[in-house]
Amino acid sequence: MPTNIVFSDLALELRDKAKEIAEKYVRPQAVKYDKAQEYNWDAARAVAEAGLFKTFVPKEYGGHGAGVLALALVTEELARADSGFGVAFAVNALGSFPIILGGTEEQKKEWLPKIAAGEKFVAFCLSEKFAGSDASGLSVTAELDGDEYVICGEKKWTTNGGVADYYSVFCVTDPTSKSRRISAILVEKGTPGFEVKKVEDKMGIRCVPVVETHFDHVRVPRTNLIGGREGLGFKHAMMTLDYARPGVAAQAMGAAQGSLDLALVYANRRKQFGAPISSFQMVQKMLADMAMKTEASRWLVYSCAAAVDNGELPISKRAAMAKCFATDTAMEVATEAVQIFGGYGFMEDYPIAKNFRDAKILQIYEGTNQVQRMVIARNLIKEVESLRHLDQYIPFEEQATYRDEEVTAR
Ligand code: CAA
Repeated sequence: MPTNIVFSDLALELRDKAKEIAEKYVRPQAVKYDKAQEYNWDAARAVAEAGLFKTFVPKEYGGHGAGVLALALVTEELARADSGFGVAFAVNALGSFPIILGGTEEQKKEWLPKIAAGEKFVAFCLSEKFAGSDASGLSVTAELDGDEYVICGEKKWTTNGGVADYYSVFCVTDPTSKSRRISAILVEKGTPGFEVKKVEDKMGIRCVPVVETHFDHVRVPRTNLIGGREGLGFKHAMMTLDYARPGVAAQAMGAAQGSLDLALVYANRRKQFGAPISSFQMVQKMLADMAMKTEASRWLVYSCAAAVDNGELPISKRAAMAKCFATDTAMEVATEAVQIFGGYGFMEDYPIAKNFRDAKILQIYEGTNQVQRMVIARNLIKEVESLRHLDQYIPFEEQATYRDEEVTAR
């Protein structure tokens, strides 16, 4: 069913603020922070002052409650100027969703207003050295000792690590259970035993830190167990990813638009054979394909985000489709943009090389695009019941039965 996509006045206002910040604080500094691998605090402060962290926080807890569609619009604008800063912003929503979706009332009242105000930044600690796509195969443990959890182990690929004040950490609380092994616990920066040990040297999105977080008998109050009950962690992680994937898809779509913008400007100015290269049909085909795919991503992202806001459950398949399509598009558009820039595109003096480097991670994080395709296919197969009326038009049932018997007989 098509989703009713409504852009509220508030969402458009937040988007406009994001666009302003993107052009004032993000784009002009993008190369500098990429080269230095430093966080763009000026832009982050501007985002906080403009109230953009309020976008994804419900109204009852100090936010705007503007929803996932507004989050997508804001992320798109920031990522259009710098994909790295897009994720530096959106990862706060990823880290907050476990609290928003699964936290107790007390936890929401305690943590969310500070996140909304931009006083506390957030990170999401799920992945580990040996648990990436297999997100339930975690080894970081949290054992209850009196009124405290004691957390031990290491997390990998924590985006925003070091910058963030709050960390939603997914830990094994019941190693004997299959379906309720994992719980999410909030750990605050500065808690003894909690350390950022390795800041990764990355190919792209270099303005946002991705780190290893180490937990050496880190003690946190029992009240930091998100949701107040053990065993909810895996479900919370999956629900969080369903809500956050439209955001990473928006980052990708904004990044694709950013690459297209640069390629267009270049193609219009660059002259060969006495004419702008934008007048050549082969370049025009590339530009047209880039624009079509970016626009297709845009509406897939908006409709998925609006579906989340409209409460159209389940959302997993649509979130996976938006994430997968938009991020594959971002990579493809960045690749084509480099091609249009020709030799200059390969040089770091020109901005498009950075877009190319930034695009790759989009196909990997928040679930590889192989995982997204698996989620899409699993959901499609579940939906096949609704197509039973088509069985009569596909006359191979007898043959399938015969084959099954033959295999059994061997
Ligand atoms: N919502 C709610 N519950 C869900 C769910 C969803 N979307 N998906 C699965 N579940 C539930 C299932 O119902 C099932 O529950 P029961 O045990 O009660 O039946 C349970 O979770 C296990 O489900 P599966 O058997 O489907 O789980 P699986 O082990 O086969 O894994 C997976 C499924 C899709 C591969 C999942 O592990 C996954 O998404 N992996 C990718 C992880 C990922 O995205 N990591 C990214 C880390 S974050 C990051 O990269 C961010 C960053 O740095 C910026």
